[in-house]
Amino acid sequence: MKFRLAFHCASIPVMRLLRKKVFLVPVAASLFLVFVLYASWMPQGHSTVDARLRQGSQVEGLLEKWHQGWAHRYDYIPFRLKESVASRVAHNGCVCEAEPNRVNLPFINLLFPSVWAKYMNSTFTASDRAAMKDGRIQQYQHFQWRSQNAADLLIVAEANSPLQYPVQGVEVRPLGTILIPGLGLQEPSRDLHYVNLTATMGTFNVAAEVEGVRIKGEGNSSLTLSSGLLANLNRQLQFITYTNTLFHPNTADTVQFKTDGHQSIFIVRIRHRVSPRLYNPGSKGAYNITALVTIATKTFIRYDKLQVLIDSIRRYYPTVTIVIADDSEHPKPVIGPYIEHYIMPFGKGWFAGRNLAVSQVTTKYVLWVDDDFIFTANTKVEKLVDMLERTTLDLVGGAVREVTGYTATYRQTIVREQGGLEGDCLHIRRGFHHVIEGFPNCVVCDGVINFFLARTEKVQQVGFDPRLARVAHLEFFIDGLGSLHVGSCDDVIVSHASKIKLPWGQSESDKAYATFRYPSSSYDHIRTKDGLLYFKNGLQCMSSN
Ligand SMILES: *[C@@H]1O[C@H](CO)[C@@H](O)[C@H](O)[C@H]1NC(C)=O
Ligand SMILES: *[C@@H]1O[C@H](CO)[C@@H](O)[C@H](O)[C@H]1NC(C)=O
Ligand SMILES: *[C@@H]1O[C@H](CO)[C@@H](O)[C@H](O)[C@H]1NC(C)=O
Ligand SMILES: *[C@@H]1O[C@H](CO)[C@@H](O)[C@H](O)[C@H]1NC(C)=O
Repeated sequence: MKFRLAFHCASIPVMRLLRKKVFLVPVAASLFLVFVLYASWMPQGHSTVDARLRQGSQVEGLLEKWHQGWAHRYDYIPFRLKESVASRVAHNGCVCEAEPNRVNLPFINLLFPSVWAKYMNSTFTASDRAAMKDGRIQQYQHFQWRSQNAADLLIVAEANSPLQYPVQGVEVRPLGTILIPGLGLQEPSRDLHYVNLTATMGTFNVAAEVEGVRIKGEGNSSLTLSSGLLANLNRQLQFITYTNTLFHPNTADTVQFKTDGHQSIFIVRIRHRVSPRLYNPGSKGAYNITALVTIATKTFIRYDKLQVLIDSIRRYYPTVTIVIADDSEHPKPVIGPYIEHYIMPFGKGWFAGRNLAVSQVTTKYVLWVDDDFIFTANTKVEKLVDMLERTTLDLVGGAVREVTGYTATYRQTIVREQGGLEGDCLHIRRGFHHVIEGFPNCVVCDGVINFFLARTEKVQQVGFDPRLARVAHLEFFIDGLGSLHVGSCDDVIVSHASKIKLPWGQSESDKAYATFRYPSSSYDHIRTKDGLLYFKNGLQCMSSN
């Protein structure tokens, strides 16, 4: 209705213009057409949609009742709990535990790292803690309402139901129409067979009519089919259409499908098809690294180191683009072909710089390096590209070789354990999940070292939180848990200009860098970090080794 109105109002000025200027006729005519098309496209059903955060629906209540009934049906039969298994089932409570003290032998921590644990609440005063917790509970609830919809409901199919229906995989674009596949009724012959379909966000109709079947409610959100002939009814059920009439993408309609004494519920997902972001890989054959990869780094004061990095990259990849984010107080020019140097406000920090650099990448992949790395003949970016091209991984780390010859991959696994209102528990351990078939040097894990190749789009989605200004790294992987598929290969190696230098061997820029990067009074830093883990990530504690 609203759209008709808009059309009438808009057509009046068009008419006036028509009288004044004859050459406007084609414009007016096309406007008219646009309005007619617009008006005819709009659905007739709903003109307003409640897009507010909501807390459940009628169907959810129905399902809840069913689950309760089932859960308590056999209450009278006793059971014996098997603690070893039952304790592994998530139970909405978690703890972070440190390993008990053990013998303190030299190097034992390198070989068998012990587990430490930390509760975030110990960083804050009691009143801060209470305020943060209240705010977080509310924000977390909103997050859940936004990120969940009816397609996440637990639905159990009842036993011996004569109803046949699609359990999953039915999808419609917003306001689109589909044939519902798989509907059927299988029951002994009787005088009258009937089924009843009810939707909440759309309507039903039939794409064809079958003789001997009575249809009631075509074009309505509730449709009833009845027939004395079961086969005819089933034939008719093959032609049932569903039209979404409520424009609310990324949600789902819960369709109730009923017959005498039986009821089932299935889900129709409502969403747009995802627009892919595809990248031109350049020439065929061998990977064209220039076309596929951008190297990104963040620098602060250490222009000498940065130049060494750039020179080393150019020996192997003369035309690959290098993006540099720089928050030095007195920035110096960094010039050369295929270099983009972005100057930021002084001291914006480590993650802000990473974020800026990554935001400017236009290739399919981005290779992250620190400004004190050095490319060598072992820094085969092609291998990392091959990994991402041939697997479902989003990000793959390499290895960093220290001057001493020690090579690190810094592989971590991260587990998030559900912890209820207090917050979840995060457990970080050195190690990996499994070796990757076909890539004997590569494993799957959840966090890797500062030297990695990633799908640009995925890294941009996770982002680097600019509030983490100084020492931060794993925080990116904590934010990415659940959306990044991470791997690590130890045969692609970059060298590290040594970090461990005696104070009298340091250059002026090294000393200035050290005071910024590793601030001695770091209470503010810990507050920021723990505050983010507690509030943003919803964690009560963390354990690691
Ligand atoms: C922090 O939280 C843990 C677990 O909820 C609790 O045992 C501990 O007493 C709390 N510490 C403080 C300082 O509140
Ligand atoms: C079908 O469902 C609608 C809505 O729940 C109800 O009004 C109608 O009576 C039902 N018809 C049959 C035959 O059960
Ligand atoms: C849809 O069905 C309901 C209940 O049977 C009825 O009240 C309503 O008028 C129908 N709507 C349309 C558009 O036919
Ligand atoms: C690789 O890609 C770059 C940029 O797209 C292009 O200029 C270059 O010619 C390509 N190299 C080869 C060998 O195809």
